[in-house]
Amino acid sequence: MFCEPDVIAQIRRFLPTAPPHVAGRVRDFSTEQLVARLVELGISTPEVGEIAAHWGGFQRDVGWASLLADLVEMVELQRGDFDAPLRIWPDMEKSGPDGRFLLFYLFALCFERTRDFLRRGGCPEEIIDSTFSILKRHAQIHRRKFASTGVDAGWWMIPTLRGEIVHVGSLQFHRVTLGVGSLSPSPWFGEAEAAELGVGFRRGDPSVGIHIPERSDLSPEAVDASLQRARAVIATLWPVGQRRLATCQTWMLDDRLSSYLAETSNIIRFQRRFNLLPRWRDDDQDVLEFVFRQTGKKLSDLEATTTLQRAVKEVLLSGGHWRDRTGWFDFDAGLGPGYIR
Ligand SMILES: CC(C)(COP(=O)(O)OP(=O)(O)OC[C@H]1O[C@@H](n2cnc3c(N)ncnc32)[C@H](O)[C@@H]1OP(=O)(O)O)[C@@H](O)C(=O)NCCC(=O)NCCS
Repeated sequence: MFCEPDVIAQIRRFLPTAPPHVAGRVRDFSTEQLVARLVELGISTPEVGEIAAHWGGFQRDVGWASLLADLVEMVELQRGDFDAPLRIWPDMEKSGPDGRFLLFYLFALCFERTRDFLRRGGCPEEIIDSTFSILKRHAQIHRRKFASTGVDAGWWMIPTLRGEIVHVGSLQFHRVTLGVGSLSPSPWFGEAEAAELGVGFRRGDPSVGIHIPERSDLSPEAVDASLQRARAVIATLWPVGQRRLATCQTWMLDDRLSSYLAETSNIIRFQRRFNLLPRWRDDDQDVLEFVFRQTGKKLSDLEATTTLQRAVKEVLLSGGHWRDRTGWFDFDAGLGPGYIR
């Protein structure tokens, strides 16, 4: 039974209703198929066993099965529709296995069609594989946080399944129409400022949002290599004929981190690649989540073992705040004929 009706109701509000053939896809998906897909996605053997053992009961539960079918329908309808709104919802940690496994089931049902979609766009096989490693990574984060099987930040699987994210080397790259896509940077330049800055900065311009997966190699060499490869992959996958920016919005771009971290730290050297917007918003929640991953603890009780953790804690305990900053740089290096700058 649903234990978090608010979250379920929140999700249901934006979901289409699955037609009978999609409901049939959920009903007819066998445990063997599920196991094969989860193994292919790199999910650990004990977790696959646990998720598969629950599948029959999940399929028979009308509420959960129809929620899953509606999510499948949404993913299928939105694949390739990069401007479709992306919804963010809280994880259903307290809903028991139904809520915790929902995103495994969705991923297993949908990722093959996403693979076909990316292949048709010319995405290399090894990039597709590394893009799908997101499920395994978020299962590992969930285990570290809650010591149970689940998918941390389940909503973040949706843009991957819609086919608008690729993971290249150390970074994820997200196709975003500036000012239109739900994850377009905000705050951004005002209309008049953007018009003055010109092509690439305006509402409606194509851009590439950069995301930093947890525990990725953020050394300058690894980031250089990721960017170089991503430029080649994305030139084929999402070609443009105009200036295109890479943007990034994160706590990691708070330039005050340089007061706490060494000049040679990977985060500081990553920051130096970006032009920072002169406006921002305070966001302590993200920094706490990404730097501690310790749920349900008071600030004073958070265990701080790294330089960064000590700095984050010190600033917050003294009543200060951390900032979510936005930065940009030119993404496409070579400007071919017909490219508008
Ligand atoms: C990307 C990442 C692997 C970079 O870590 P890194 O290469 O160690 O970065 P730095 O060299 O700048 O680290 C400097 C110090 O901060 C610590 N640190 C860096 N990121 C940390 C994190 N997320 N949590 C805790 N400590 C961290 C390092 O351990 C190091 O401390 P030390 O000098 O005491 O050993 C790491 O920050 C991470 O996993 N981040 C989570 C992903 C994320 O937040 N993405 C953005 C989402 S908006």
